[in-house]
Amino acid sequence: MNNHRLIRIQAVSGLLFSLFALVHLSNTALAVLGPDLYNGFQSSARRVYQWPLLELALVTTLIVHITSGVLRMRGRRGSKAKPPLRLRLHRYAAYYLAIFVFGHMAATRLPALLADAPPFFGGVSFSLHFMPWFFYPYYALLGIAGLYHLCYGVPVALGVLGIRAPQAIRRGPGFWIPISAGATLIVLALLGFGGALYEIDDPFDNDFARAYEAAAAYFSEEAP
Ligand code: HEM
Repeated sequence: MNNHRLIRIQAVSGLLFSLFALVHLSNTALAVLGPDLYNGFQSSARRVYQWPLLELALVTTLIVHITSGVLRMRGRRGSKAKPPLRLRLHRYAAYYLAIFVFGHMAATRLPALLADAPPFFGGVSFSLHFMPWFFYPYYALLGIAGLYHLCYGVPVALGVLGIRAPQAIRRGPGFWIPISAGATLIVLALLGFGGALYEIDDPFDNDFARAYEAAAAYFSEEAP
């Protein structure tokens, strides 16, 4: 496939996935204001993105986006040119997301599909209490990498389709201010899930936590 076609496929799939990513990161940021708002928003949004055909389309879009990225990366092999910092950060964010996003989807969706135990606020809270040394840095990087990849990628993808984003968004403070504000919100949201901003319910007393603990006990009994 020629590179021009690949660039368009990557742009369109990126824009489609960014609709979900925007809703999802906004949902995450709402945890700054408390569990009720986070859970309420998630219940409503789920009715759309977890509609079976749409969820399948979401996963397909993600696979197409990552595959076209990998193919373009292979096409660039041998090039000695050093890209600018913002593009390098965009690519590092892509590597992190590509490595972790399918694990993240499985960890959040399987308990809902297999044990009718969707995560909600308590599920994220449980993960942060269960293995804080892993989940705080993992979620902070996931959220910030997703935000950066989205903010850099959307104007570029629109440009590929002939829609020029305003100069103020593509460079300078118009680029860095929303990213810094969004990153701060993600860190604050994690502190909210962790119970540092306001009182939270016992993170081990919810269906998601019980499903995980039951699975962990099952697999540790199975292990020799
Ligand atoms: C701090 C950051 C994040 C947190 C706390 C978080 C948390 C969650 C939770 C709780 C769910 C389950 C949602 C539901 O059942 O309705 C979920 C699902 C998902 N997340 Fe994240 N997430 C984060 C960042 C990201 C990022 C950056 C991406 C991708 C770029 C992402 C991609 C997904 C996908 C694809 C699903 C599955 C959606 C579905 O099929 O229903 N997440 N996440």
